[in-house]
Amino acid sequence: MNLIYKLLVITLATLLSSSFSNAQAVNNVWEGAYTEEQAMNGENLYQEHCSACHGSQMQGIEEAPTLKQGAFIYNWDDLGVDILFQRIRTTMPLDDPRGVSRKIKADILAYLMSENNFPAGKIKLPYQNSRLKRIKWNAQKPADD
Ligand code: HEC
Repeated sequence: MNLIYKLLVITLATLLSSSFSNAQAVNNVWEGAYTEEQAMNGENLYQEHCSACHGSQMQGIEEAPTLKQGAFIYNWDDLGVDILFQRIRTTMPLDDPRGVSRKIKADILAYLMSENNFPAGKIKLPYQNSRLKRIKWNAQKPADD
């Protein structure tokens, strides 16, 4: 009985620590905040929902700005990814922000990250603010500690 109890505690502790380290693994967009597959899916969704205004290469058209490099990346510098996600969630597509689900927007944001040369990783970009907020959007790669 005692042994079974001990084994149970060890198993639980291992499970907990591994799920914990998974959840905390990605601190910023340079550490692989989305998966390659998600970004590929996001590309199609971007073309469907966003490209009419922002352009098929994210180059920007008239008032709709580019979503690539330079000014765009620095607009969101040092903020949690939840802030950019909220911006997209509440205001984009400009003509119908409620017409596109959170999940779809997370995949589109994954594509946007890949187009801005942030690396892919093993964990999908989440669509919950509580999780997105732990990932920092750093315009430049933070120095290693
Ligand atoms: C009907 C046209 C239109 C569509 C469709 C559209 N956008 Fe936009 N978007 C704009 C315009 C215009 C702006 C700038 C003015 C504003 O913010 O309202 C903008 C601004 C943005 C910004 C802020 C850019 C910055 O410099 O920080 C983001 C991010 C964005 N759009 C993402 C998206 C995404 C993702 C989609 C698809 C889900 C999308 N937009 C679809 C017109 C559009």
